[in-house]
Amino acid sequence: MEEVRQIVLVRRPQGVPVPEDFALATAPMPRPGPGEMLVKMRVGSCDPAIRGFLDDRPSYLPPVAIGAPINGMSLGEVIESNNPAWPVGTLLRAFATWSDHYILRGDALGLEQVDCAPDVPLQHYMGALGPVGLTAWVGLFEIGKAKAGETVLVSAAAGATGSTVVQLAKAAGCRVIGLAGGPNKADVVRGLGADVAIDYRGVDDLGAAISAAAPDGIDVYFDNVGGETLDAVLPLMRLHGRIALCGMIAQYNDAEHPHGLRNAWQLVVNRVGMRGFITYDHPEVLDEAQAMLDGLFADGGLKPLENVRDGFETLPQAFIELMSGQTVGKTLVRI
Ligand SMILES: NC(=O)c1ccc[n+]([C@@H]2O[C@H](COP(=O)([O-])OP(=O)(O)OC[C@H]3O[C@@H](n4cnc5c(N)ncnc54)[C@H](OP(=O)(O)O)[C@@H]3O)[C@@H](O)[C@H]2O)c1
Repeated sequence: MEEVRQIVLVRRPQGVPVPEDFALATAPMPRPGPGEMLVKMRVGSCDPAIRGFLDDRPSYLPPVAIGAPINGMSLGEVIESNNPAWPVGTLLRAFATWSDHYILRGDALGLEQVDCAPDVPLQHYMGALGPVGLTAWVGLFEIGKAKAGETVLVSAAAGATGSTVVQLAKAAGCRVIGLAGGPNKADVVRGLGADVAIDYRGVDDLGAAISAAAPDGIDVYFDNVGGETLDAVLPLMRLHGRIALCGMIAQYNDAEHPHGLRNAWQLVVNRVGMRGFITYDHPEVLDEAQAMLDGLFADGGLKPLENVRDGFETLPQAFIELMSGQTVGKTLVRI
């Protein structure tokens, strides 16, 4: 009997996930029903949000059940189809499971066709030319309303989203300050074109370090981490500044103990707008976003920063490294 390989949740992680939280399992190959497609995973995506689905608490998607395959975004190829809109050979991105083959319906979450240029590595379409780039664009321009001449601060600037934000903000004519953990990551951020990169682990007073880099304050803060970093930035926002809350990875491994903001009053003082967002809630701007990403990439102004592994079975380890803060760029697994 044909089988599929799956990465299943064995137990709920305590803190940073460890290999024992996951297992490689097999299941019978699913068959597509009416209107469904059988999809072969080509690129699996490791996303911090998955950490939230592993806890038994409400996130923006239900928790993964013990013994069930992990939920995540992936890029796959249709190999059997009962849906004329998505014929065999179509490349699709969708929210699926960590399964090397899976069934999708036409109404699957986040389902979209991927039109790949022949000479572009496929995994870019799961990274800077895909959801990562779209997230950076939506947060920076739709939520943050960043404009030429403004000062943009971004946290986790050597990470998947942050590294793309740095490049988009520079392309838009902004002054860019990136925060990253460690001197090597700070070098990476400078290499992407940031005007200033701060190794936040290497400074005693993060607020003072940002203030020295931006004496007139911050117009747009693209926040990937939340926690103490967000608190340090709040008093440095300019009048009518904007904070795009993309994520709060600093607390994903310890969701029982969220950081309480001390400086929220500064939102009132400087009439700062602070807004959370989920990329796919903004379908009306995604074509414009994709066009800018594709154009910049073609001109060499956007360099996808990636941490790529090969082999379906490497998904848990890749995810563990992501959630340990060890990675630079987007963590992807090619199958
Ligand atoms: N709203 C949306 O639609 C959307 C979509 C995608 C992603 N996101 C969010 O965007 C943020 C960035 O995601 P990403 O995919 O681009 O990942 P990423 O930045 O590559 O994430 C890893 C980086 O986060 C930083 N980090 C800070 N505190 C951490 C901690 N306690 N544990 C582990 N890492 C920590 C580390 O960088 P340093 O060493 O520099 O601290 C680490 O290398 C996440 O919060 C994610 O949930 C939101």
